Amino acid sequence: MTAIAVLTSGGDAPGMNAAIRAITKVAASHDVPTWGVEQGFDGLIDGVFRPLSRRNKMGDPAPVHEVESEGGQGGTILGSSRSPRFFDRTARVEAARQLEEYSITGVVGIGGNGSIAGLHALQSETEVPIAAIPASIDNDIGLTREALGVDSALNTIVEACDNISDTARSHHRAFIVEVMGRQSGYLAMAAAVATAADAVLMPERPHNRDEVVDSVVDCIKTSFGAARDKTRVLIIKAEGVGVPTHEIVEEAQKRCDAEGTHVEIRGTVLGHVVRGGDASFRDRLLAGRFGRVAVETVLAGRGDVMTGWNIGIDLGEPTTDDWIRLFDIPDVLEETEALLDGTSPVSIDRVARMEAIQGVLAL
Ligand code: F6P
Repeated sequence: MTAIAVLTSGGDAPGMNAAIRAITKVAASHDVPTWGVEQGFDGLIDGVFRPLSRRNKMGDPAPVHEVESEGGQGGTILGSSRSPRFFDRTARVEAARQLEEYSITGVVGIGGNGSIAGLHALQSETEVPIAAIPASIDNDIGLTREALGVDSALNTIVEACDNISDTARSHHRAFIVEVMGRQSGYLAMAAAVATAADAVLMPERPHNRDEVVDSVVDCIKTSFGAARDKTRVLIIKAEGVGVPTHEIVEEAQKRCDAEGTHVEIRGTVLGHVVRGGDASFRDRLLAGRFGRVAVETVLAGRGDVMTGWNIGIDLGEPTTDDWIRLFDIPDVLEETEALLDGTSPVSIDRVARMEAIQGVLAL
């Protein structure tokens, strides 16, 4: 008898529910029932499991209605947590015991880099194969082109920036819009390209407080100046930049006033608005493809791996899906560190590409 358990962990991301739906359906197509673990690693430690599939009239496993009906929604129907308890080995041993208790023969964990590290730690305590699906709006997970949630979050940011640009143009204003991303500036960079923002402030290009304010003031003066003659200035700031947005706004406004540059500067922090909302088409598609490969992987007895969206044809192991490769989790964690400290060729390339494109779009 085989059974799969699925959990979502860390910050929720649009596409998690689509992945849960895909996992449950693919497992059912192999005649395998799926259990949902509530509240991430906390639910695993406490044994809070609920069935995500039921036997239909033919006696075959089929997803429960909630899995079908909420597959496109943001958030996660299973709930999530950042579990400090899971750092303790005793808790992980207990989690492994719960897997035995429920006769689980494969686990799929959906989450960000902290969660993937947690799944790797759990794999040391159990023979049950564990596969990870990358999900985080921050796009800060190594060895995948994108994680689940990134595309949906960017669509939300682009819509918000377009709305802000409408009102900004009407008043000839400058806006600094802060987006989430933790230590990663990816959302800010990608959104800046898509909205033709005038500048991006991101942790990958670290600046002290004075330099940040200087660059904002310069950007505003140049953009509203005779050569560019813009009707709005849009600066996208990643949350990982150490200076709070309202302080940048206040200081830049003071500087402009003192220099006699007539401009009104406003700040908007998009915050958790960006993390919620229905999953985009691409996140749903990616969730389906990740989900299928993750189930096939654990059913084949393979664990301690992550599904990644093809980042280069020679990297990772091929799967039944030509978009999706499998990566050993230790390799993912190593590449994630390099991505975050800016030494990965992927981060270097991202910044260079963004600067080249954005430099033109901002003109
Ligand atoms: O990792 C996702 C994320 O939304 C980050 O962008 C942000 O820094 C963090 O989570 C916010 O966490 P919380 O929801 O716990 O405030």
